[in-house]
Amino acid sequence: MASRTVHPIGSARATIRVPGDKSISHRAAILGAIATGVTTVEGFLASEDCLNTARAMRHMGADIERDGDRLAIRGVGLDGLRESGAVVDVGNSGTGIRLLSGLAAGQAFTTTITGDASIRRRPMDRIVKPLSAMGARISGASGGLYAPLTIQGGGLHGIAYDSPVASAQVKSATLLAGLYADGETTVHEPSLSRDHTERMLTAFGASVRRDGLAVTVTPRPQLTGREVRVPADISSAAFFLVAGLLAPDARVSCVGVGVNPTRTGIVDALRVMGGDVVAEAEQMSGAEPVADLHAATSSLRGATFAGDAIVTMIDELPLLALAGSQARGQTVVRDAAELRVKETDRIAAIVSELSSLGVEVEPRPDGFVIDGPQRIRGGECESHGDHRIAMMCAVAGLIGDAPTTIHDVDCVNTSFPTFWELLEQL
Ligand code: S3P
Repeated sequence: MASRTVHPIGSARATIRVPGDKSISHRAAILGAIATGVTTVEGFLASEDCLNTARAMRHMGADIERDGDRLAIRGVGLDGLRESGAVVDVGNSGTGIRLLSGLAAGQAFTTTITGDASIRRRPMDRIVKPLSAMGARISGASGGLYAPLTIQGGGLHGIAYDSPVASAQVKSATLLAGLYADGETTVHEPSLSRDHTERMLTAFGASVRRDGLAVTVTPRPQLTGREVRVPADISSAAFFLVAGLLAPDARVSCVGVGVNPTRTGIVDALRVMGGDVVAEAEQMSGAEPVADLHAATSSLRGATFAGDAIVTMIDELPLLALAGSQARGQTVVRDAAELRVKETDRIAAIVSELSSLGVEVEPRPDGFVIDGPQRIRGGECESHGDHRIAMMCAVAGLIGDAPTTIHDVDCVNTSFPTFWELLEQL
């Protein structure tokens, strides 16, 4: 298992283009495959997670060619997919397994989907429930709670689903199945999760209606292949922006970053804490807004984050913990129990890894509390097989008193294969 050592930095000046958005890349591979005609994807994230989704679509019949971060997809149309000859393996990707399950539920054939040990521990009942209610026959480990899932699709009915969790994966799985139902499908969620599926479905020609926290898709749309430009991933940019705020004498810019308001919670949160983060050159790039984001060394103060804002920064909460450790006063995160069921239990991982570096964090069932500022002494950390924990530790290493070694860092390749190279630029 590979390790990396990060050394403290004295100052940082960098302008960085992080790779394409992971969520949007998954969706582009899936929708391109079930559209008619050619979809070209520019800025596709060629990380393990998204490549696994592209491979699944190939196994189900789509013709996908990749040249670096460019995909050319010859779609097979809504009814053109065929049974995959192999078990679909999503690797580490929760988005992959949940979205592909929704798609599989609409098909008049059987699909078996699984993933790595982390995926096989993550809850799948959250999608099995709505997809079964629509008529898909799904079996899974422990009575359908976990992968591997075997999905016998077809003959779906439209439903109105009141999701107990604010999850874009649950919403997207249900909407994708809804494309194949005999009537409209509506998903209501407790807070607005990322809406990339809705935006991309609309761009491909589907009829999608939003009414507050409810979204409705009309079945059997005519989806037409198109050009998709994938913005830089704000979840990847966030590591560099937080480095820009916390490192001494720093000015870090990330260009062409997706700033969909369902994803920018971390920028808002850092600003509430007094962080100097500025957005410039905001414009639409296809269905998604993009901007250049600039961060400069700031003196942060603690703050409390809870409620609807949490889902808009769910993947950045490990970074928010790191920022909180450097802020004056108390930082509190609540309503974030979803962190317990990510690639690892991220609340436990934040507490144990920041503590390895000398930072005390108090865990709560649905979040954490940190009193700052605390010194980061450097030392050794474990990734827990979780890319975002590994990268959070690496950013901590930049501002430690001594070097930080992070063990088991291969997981970074699931979302951000060029992370270490770009980190060198700081
Ligand atoms: C994602 C949704 C979120 C997020 C994940 C990507 C997506 O998961 O944490 O990294 O692309 O739909 P949940 O839907 O489980 O909140």
